[in-house]
Amino acid sequence: MSKRKKIVIGNWKNNPQTPEEAKKIFKGIMKKATLLSGVETVVCPPTLYTGLFSKEKFGAKFRLGAQNVFHKTEGACTGEITAAMLKAAKVSHVIIGHSERRALGETDAIVAQKAAVLLREGFKPIICIGEAIHDSEGEYLRFLENQITSSMALIQNNNMLDVIIAYEPIWTIGAEQAMTGNDIYQTTLYIRKILRDVYNQTISDAMTIVYGGSVNPSNIQDIMTQGNVDGVLVGRDSLSPENFTNILTVVSKS
Ligand code: PGA
Repeated sequence: MSKRKKIVIGNWKNNPQTPEEAKKIFKGIMKKATLLSGVETVVCPPTLYTGLFSKEKFGAKFRLGAQNVFHKTEGACTGEITAAMLKAAKVSHVIIGHSERRALGETDAIVAQKAAVLLREGFKPIICIGEAIHDSEGEYLRFLENQITSSMALIQNNNMLDVIIAYEPIWTIGAEQAMTGNDIYQTTLYIRKILRDVYNQTISDAMTIVYGGSVNPSNIQDIMTQGNVDGVLVGRDSLSPENFTNILTVVSKS
């Protein structure tokens, strides 16, 4: 069994509304994150703000991420941002297939192309998966299997360990409650079974899987101790340096 590293990803979405606020939040997080050991922190601001942090030093403990990328490396496409541009902005991790983007039309096939582009250019893709309905008949498990195999269809086995899977059940995103640690545990066991069946045991054991959906300082302990995950993807609370660094501290100790 390989020892997987812990990671916490902050997804600011389309927030905050001013660069001044963005700088303040970023500084507050970075100060603490660079002091903690045992956890890698990835902050994903809106792409427009990444230039504000170009003078910062990124390394093993603290990384800059993005929330999207164009699925091609060339060709005209109004409004898109390419992997080369993200690289120039010191971005190392990119969230793809977030449910909010899937709701805007991002299909598994596009996610697969984005993952392939990112891996070719040396990034770590954070591939979001997650069911809309957690039904008692277990239909959601088949949905997850299909989403994993289709979204990762273009990834070679030797690139698999550069990929992070973010399990984000849609019904827990922006909600009042996260999934319980025990339920997260059951689902991640199933995700690792899919990875074992489709790829192999080594990949299944070594891949990083994080949970996302209403993570906060009060539920992080349960998620990390019962959930058997390698970290979390945090939305709302990644905009509060205090809450986010509380979460980081718990993850670093787990
Ligand atoms: P939330 O968002 O933490 O606000 O639920 C998580 C996400 O959408 O990634």
